[in-house]
Amino acid sequence: MLKLGVNIDHVATVRQARYRNSEQGEPSPVQAALSCEQAGCYGITAHLREDRRHILDRDIWSLKEALKIPLNFEMANTSEMVGIAIKLLPASVCLVPEKREERTTEGGLDVAGGFESLKPFVSTLKDNGILVSLFIEPSEKQLEAAASLNADIVELHTGRYCDTEGTARDAELKRIIHAAGVAEGLGLECHAGHGLTFDTVTPIAEIPSLVELNIGHFLIGEAIFSGLDLSLIHISEPTRLLSIS
Ligand code: PXP
Repeated sequence: MLKLGVNIDHVATVRQARYRNSEQGEPSPVQAALSCEQAGCYGITAHLREDRRHILDRDIWSLKEALKIPLNFEMANTSEMVGIAIKLLPASVCLVPEKREERTTEGGLDVAGGFESLKPFVSTLKDNGILVSLFIEPSEKQLEAAASLNADIVELHTGRYCDTEGTARDAELKRIIHAAGVAEGLGLECHAGHGLTFDTVTPIAEIPSLVELNIGHFLIGEAIFSGLDLSLIHISEPTRLLSIS
């Protein structure tokens, strides 16, 4: 069975839009993660960005404490983040490129180009019993570099596949299918994610060598539509705000 990991950064983005300098505020990413756990998802991903724009340090620690399912700690390959990871001891770390000006993780990690700088970080994480995942473009060069680095997992970036249409999307899907096969051949556990929706997920979920998909933004957005009517009912029942019977 294909595992589903849910990225809950997007819940924290909503919270931070209102409560940027506050110790509290809703919605809670931890509560969202627990709902996903209860619904049967395999794991939770949270990205502690260097600028702390959504997930905060306290969220990461609370997630680690509250969750029974695996926590995948997404982070940039910096000494600060590796320091946090080896104290936190999540089930896995997903290393991603990080640019301040981007809205979300744009493009994969250049494992081949950054091989020497990644090497000590990857071995420190692995020495501490943390599985290391590298978020990469579906390219053989990056896969071979990931295998040489002794990574446990690669997560293939599906952003370009989701952002294109027609023949361009078909070509990108072929690239992802090929890369997933190459990853398996190199002994790397293969995950995929970014930008997946009801419309785009099916052909990706059919790739046999994929073990896990990570989905965030679309699921959190959809939750508005499957939950807003209930929120209205819950606020109305004790207050008689609406005449919902
Ligand atoms: N995987 C990684 C490494 C990501 O950075 C993201 C972004 O949140 C995702 C998966 C999920 O992408 P999305 O939120 O677009 O579903």
